[in-house]
Amino acid sequence: MSLDPNSLSGRVAVVVGASSGINLGIAHKLGSLGARLAIVSRTPERIEAAAAGLAAEGLDVTAHSGDVRDAAAMQAIMAEIAATKGPIDIVSSGAAGNFFVSAAKMSPNAFKTIIDIDLIGTFNVMSAAYPHLRRPGAVLINITAPQAQRATPKQAHACAAKAGIEMLTRCLALEWGPEGIRVNAVSPGPIADTEGLARLATDEALAGKILDALALPRFGTRADIGNAVAWLCSEGASFVTGTTIDCDGGMRLGNLYAPD
Ligand code: COA
Ligand code: NAP
Repeated sequence: MSLDPNSLSGRVAVVVGASSGINLGIAHKLGSLGARLAIVSRTPERIEAAAAGLAAEGLDVTAHSGDVRDAAAMQAIMAEIAATKGPIDIVSSGAAGNFFVSAAKMSPNAFKTIIDIDLIGTFNVMSAAYPHLRRPGAVLINITAPQAQRATPKQAHACAAKAGIEMLTRCLALEWGPEGIRVNAVSPGPIADTEGLARLATDEALAGKILDALALPRFGTRADIGNAVAWLCSEGASFVTGTTIDCDGGMRLGNLYAPD
């Protein structure tokens, strides 16, 4: 996608869950467009290694470690970023956990853990950033998944958490829009070479079934999602808020087998 390579020049962009995978791809895209990056995840060594990789490509980046389940930790990180870099222009929030387990076998703590990381973690990130946002002009993006809209076996925890994230996104858009803050979500489909896909497509047969369920029969790339997030941050999206961009190859359409 051809956005002006300096279109985010000088903007402060916080990307949460960016030690690997899709969120690291988002950080890379925003940094490549000129954003000054602050990347966040739970494990210090992993987020520092990710920052070193981005810095080696010439991007302007700092690393911050904290658990999204810890509201006070998120508040401290956002305050530190704003104190050192200035008002926050962009927050992309995508820390998550997932595993396959049937509802019958899911412990209450397994369900709670995913709700805590994905849904409550997203609220903690958004509310911690809120006092430090640039007004008008800040752009907030939450990373959701097709499971928010499609009931999926062995995914009751992730489906419930991601559905909550999409409604939270709409509520925040409504409340914060008058201050000039846009809030949207991006829903990736199955993205190649990610931990999330590795946990769900555990063998080739399952990977094939996932591809069969798409309208566009290929796995997505991290760049596909980085491009969607970059567009939401651009002037071209200045009237877009409270929505979910489905960047999912049509996964949410729920393709069912039909005979020839
Ligand atoms: N199947 C069933 N239950 C599982 C499970 C699995 N594969 N993995 C964890 N759980 C349960 C645990 O048994 C525990 O419940 P219990 O106390 O009743 O036994 C609960 O979930 C919490 O597990 P714990 O390992 O303590 O959680 P954590 O906070 O240390 O780690 C996870 C969170 C489990 C989500 C971990 O896999 C993780 O950190 N994931 C991040 C990476 C990731 O998932 N990437 C994909 C993003 S889509
Ligand atoms: P990933 O590489 O495993 O990345 C997950 C990130 O979340 C890591 O940076 C991890 O940090 C961080 N994280 C996890 N728990 C955390 C916590 N409690 N506090 C702070 N950070 C925490 O995953 P991915 O597959 O790229 O997925 C990224 C996002 O895209 C997720 O929101 C996921 O639901 C969504 N998604 C993925 C796919 C896919 O195909 N992969 C499809 C649809 C949606 P550390 O490990 O460093 O601690």
